[in-house]
Amino acid sequence: MPGSELESMAANYARQAMKLDKQGSRSLAVIKYQRAIEILLKLCQIYPDQQSNPTYLKHIEAYSSRVRALQRQTSDSGKQEKSEKEPNEFILTEKPDVQWEDVVGLESAKKAVEESIIFPVKRADLFPLGWPRGILLFGPSGCGKTLLAAAVSSQIDATFFYVDAASIMSKWLGESEKNVSKLFSASRKAADNSKPAIIFIDEIDSMTSVQKEEVGGEIRARNQFLREMDSLVDKKKRLHIYVIGATNKPWNLDEAFIRRFQKRIMVPLPDSEARREMFEMYTRGLELGEDVDLKELAETTEGYSGSDIHDLCQAVQMKVVREFFETIENEDDTRKPRMLSLSDFQNVLENRKPSVTPYMLYNFQRWADEFKAH
Ligand SMILES: Nc1ncnc2c1ncn2[C@@H]1O[C@H](COP(=O)(O)OP(=O)(O)OP(=O)(O)O)[C@@H](O)[C@H]1O
Ligand SMILES: [Mg+2]
Repeated sequence: MPGSELESMAANYARQAMKLDKQGSRSLAVIKYQRAIEILLKLCQIYPDQQSNPTYLKHIEAYSSRVRALQRQTSDSGKQEKSEKEPNEFILTEKPDVQWEDVVGLESAKKAVEESIIFPVKRADLFPLGWPRGILLFGPSGCGKTLLAAAVSSQIDATFFYVDAASIMSKWLGESEKNVSKLFSASRKAADNSKPAIIFIDEIDSMTSVQKEEVGGEIRARNQFLREMDSLVDKKKRLHIYVIGATNKPWNLDEAFIRRFQKRIMVPLPDSEARREMFEMYTRGLELGEDVDLKELAETTEGYSGSDIHDLCQAVQMKVVREFFETIENEDDTRKPRMLSLSDFQNVLENRKPSVTPYMLYNFQRWADEFKAH
């Protein structure tokens, strides 16, 4: 089907949006809804005769009205708390409810983020050569880069700016350069009062990969970004502004970009121990039969990402619930679904392959060998 890749991208954004919405992360949810809307609109434009267009339009309407509602709520609470400040669409006013412990594994990434921000904030005098301002997290899809960003914002006491690079580059086409400088000037303002400011740029590859087909100011936006990054390292002004970029396509970044991120850290697929912890986390609220051995499941799911494991557990639960509804006799029936058994997991596993292929992994490893910097 034409456009199926775009459709699944839109679905993915919508899913993330709804999840964030449920967690109460309004600004993040708005960004993701907007991305979904944008892609669906694009689909309708490219394939005007598609049968699914009426459905897309319905989704677009639903997401747009949710965005408006969320924006109203955000500006209302903004008005109450800090009416003197100008509204800024990039600032995360509410902290997402994700803790360090919710991010399984990724010790080196957590440590790098913590050390590079906390040490210089505490004792700038110990860093006569300055300190790294840019941290790049790269790795296969679904392994916790975005999740880690959410945890950073709630664990490190800083003003947190979240931007989806693709939205900066496309939604305000032609104004992307202005958006980049607005973002950095807002962060400079925020960092003035002894609290660090963290700018998280998700899917940062979309800032450089569009440059081949410049439509309206993408190259200027990219150059503006490089200039802003350089101005952070001004030796006289020891600003505590940190830029964390995340990407699953590091090979699309050019050298000028790579150089600005002095720390480059791979966020890898979970190892067997991390997979066991994820199985534990994602089956916490579920009833497991005695034959379900999470350690064994972890061992048989080599190559699966964190998000694969999450989806797997969800699918197993769904299977049992579906079965339950099929047998339910009337509304007063108060029976509960049966426990999950090992064979439920095995059945679902048979029909779900890892979303990251060995070839992709090979590419990440090669890029890491060339460019990693801890
Ligand atoms: N390390 C992890 N610990 C716990 N859950 C994880 C982890 N990695 C992934 N997950 C689960 O998978 C979901 C998707 O992860 P996330 O969005 O952070 O991936 P990502 O690395 O940003 O992927 P992409 O490159 O596609 O943006 C999370 O919301 C979480 O449910
Ligand atoms: Mg992500």
